[in-house]
Amino acid sequence: MSEANTGMSEATVVRFDVEDGIGVITVDYPPVNALGPGVSDGIIAALEKGEADPKVKAMVLMGAGRTFIAGADIRGFGKPRATPAKRTYDVMDQGNKPIVAAIHGYALGGGLENALGCHYRIAVPSAKVGLPEVQIGILPGGGGTQRLPRLIGPKLALEMIVSGRHVPAAEAKALGIIDDIIPGKDLRKEAIAWAKGIAEKRPLPRVRDRSEKLAEAKSDPGMFDAARKAYARKMRGQPAPEKCIQAVEAACTQPFDEGVATERRLFGELENSDEAKALRYAFFAEREINRVPGMPKDLKLPEIKTIAVVGAGTMGGGIAMSFSDAGLPVKLVDANPEVLAKGLARIKANYETSVKRGSLTQAEMDTRFGLITPIEKMEDIGDCDAVIEAVFERMDVKKDVFRQLDKVMKPEALLLTNTSALDIDEIAAVTTRPEKVAGTHYFVPANVMKLFEVVNASKTAPETLAAAMKLGRDINKVSGYAGNCDGFVANRSRIPFNLEQGLMIEEGALPQQIDKVMEGFGYPVGPFKVNDMSGLDVSYDTRKRRAAASPNYRGLPITDAIVEAGRLGQKTGAGWYRYEKGDRTPHVDPALETLIKATAEKLKIQQRTFTDDEILKRLLFGSINECCKILEEGKAIRASDIDVMWLHGFGFPRYRGGVMYWGDTIGAREIYNQIAVWHQRYGARWKPSELLRQLAESGGKLREAKADKLR
Ligand code: 3HC
Repeated sequence: MSEANTGMSEATVVRFDVEDGIGVITVDYPPVNALGPGVSDGIIAALEKGEADPKVKAMVLMGAGRTFIAGADIRGFGKPRATPAKRTYDVMDQGNKPIVAAIHGYALGGGLENALGCHYRIAVPSAKVGLPEVQIGILPGGGGTQRLPRLIGPKLALEMIVSGRHVPAAEAKALGIIDDIIPGKDLRKEAIAWAKGIAEKRPLPRVRDRSEKLAEAKSDPGMFDAARKAYARKMRGQPAPEKCIQAVEAACTQPFDEGVATERRLFGELENSDEAKALRYAFFAEREINRVPGMPKDLKLPEIKTIAVVGAGTMGGGIAMSFSDAGLPVKLVDANPEVLAKGLARIKANYETSVKRGSLTQAEMDTRFGLITPIEKMEDIGDCDAVIEAVFERMDVKKDVFRQLDKVMKPEALLLTNTSALDIDEIAAVTTRPEKVAGTHYFVPANVMKLFEVVNASKTAPETLAAAMKLGRDINKVSGYAGNCDGFVANRSRIPFNLEQGLMIEEGALPQQIDKVMEGFGYPVGPFKVNDMSGLDVSYDTRKRRAAASPNYRGLPITDAIVEAGRLGQKTGAGWYRYEKGDRTPHVDPALETLIKATAEKLKIQQRTFTDDEILKRLLFGSINECCKILEEGKAIRASDIDVMWLHGFGFPRYRGGVMYWGDTIGAREIYNQIAVWHQRYGARWKPSELLRQLAESGGKLREAKADKLR
């Protein structure tokens, strides 16, 4: 092998050498070979070197380390940058020697666009390709919207570009994106051999020259509007999907170079949009949340390979599914055989629904269901590495289970609890291993919602905390750190939202107005429609219990009257809305308004009207204030973690970044001032947090707030 020194200043990020007549271009920019500073220039310099070297018959473009190229450097977006003198794709198109992209790991965004600029693409079986730009609020800006439709047809390209999904190698081969799948035992060697096989082939297959697949758009001109309709609901409030569609449309109606110019213009319109900024923030916040400060570097984590879940109710069943869905075996324990049988039947029914919907194959269902082993005796889970308790939410019940677990589980096993509010220190205290106890709080439905809140109790060992956080990531959830306090971080920060939602009804707002405001804000479903789905009786019972315990508790008398009138939600055909038999569509119900008015008059509650702006602020400002209190108390690490929790625990619209990120679009000062007014008007629940006051005074950003010290 002759090692050629490129003589480039980018030699460290892109290497070029010649072996057996094949020029090998290796991008080496850890961790994921993003197209950071010098990478594209390095590729161009290598391409030109290969083109000029008579010994080189063909070239291979590949990535060093764990992946091919993960795309443009997202950190560079939104910052001023020079227009490049040359683009890799153009240099590839102008060259006279075949280039093969050899893909392992990921070829995403600009990574796949580089591969599409190559004449051939080969990949290892585990590779994934995609144009996920839409997920960060932009569109493929390196010719992807022009080349992909030429390669696989506009219809399939639309689906890939507008969804942004990662396509596995086998599917990419079937679609025609990849020419061949190679074993990948020695990527470089196999790629060189493959390139030698096509080195003499002419003409060079350039994707830009292909037009046969574009004819599809002529025979099916409605496909673009169909795509608009198909994605309208999912991508509401975001400009990127529409512009993705326009760019693919341009591929079908304009010559290649004009289409590329259109793509570039549309890209420019999106790069600095509010949505793109928020989505970039969410991308990095989701990575930052994994970092827990103060963790010893050489921490040795206990390995968790075998898991048990105690309690086969709805929650326990969902938790068991979260493991089987990730391909992990799980033991589901319930001492009551009837509950266990019912729990299993519920899991089976859930899987069957997915099969009916087409989101799961029968074979996948059988594998997943087969990973769940029902167990009746606690002793039979003793050898598991970790157990998650999901029994009834009552301290005495939990303590009893933990005493038993402490006896039966092997000494090194972790004991985790899925409590949503109980004091984990108190639970841990009944065991002989409080250092191995932590909270792992799931969100409903547990097999669907991505948030996995890990609660650090006062005696939880760093190894336990880190292992629990890793466990969440292993089952494809987003693990977020929380300190041990009432409601932990996510639910606690959400309480003011729920409270104001109820109070505004008492004061005269109507559920349909509040839902409309929040749906307009970007929530897929308004909070009252969600209440109707889960049933109004649960919170009613909680209010009654609280009223019995504390004579000063005011409660929500109008909401109580609605429940007492038998309106429990979808299950009774009426709640905040009215429902037709067998149909879950909510209909605004004048009878509800009458009931609210009559109750208000009877109870002499004064009602008034609300503006949409007031509704939005009343719902979100209280939560922002609570987030500040949580940070102040050292119960969350950073504001951006709470934002990620809202995205994955409560369906907060991703293109708004998160509740604290959104707060910055208003400004800490304005929020503080409003809260101070409401504090005067409504009393203690609106007491502004000290941290919020400081941010208001200093002009600081809510999203950058951090705990001084974790407690
Ligand atoms: N730019 C900058 N940094 C990136 C990056 C990118 N495109 N992709 C990943 N990173 C960083 C992450 O921030 C993380 O940094 P950290 O260690 O400091 O937190 C590190 O690389 C590793 O990333 P992950 O933790 O996400 O690693 P995974 O192995 O879990 O996932 C991945 C790898 C699937 C490639 C995932 O990182 C990913 O989805 N990346 C973004 C891909 C993408 O959106 N590409 C399109 C970019 S836009 C574009 O190309 C525009 C073009 O059309 C002009």
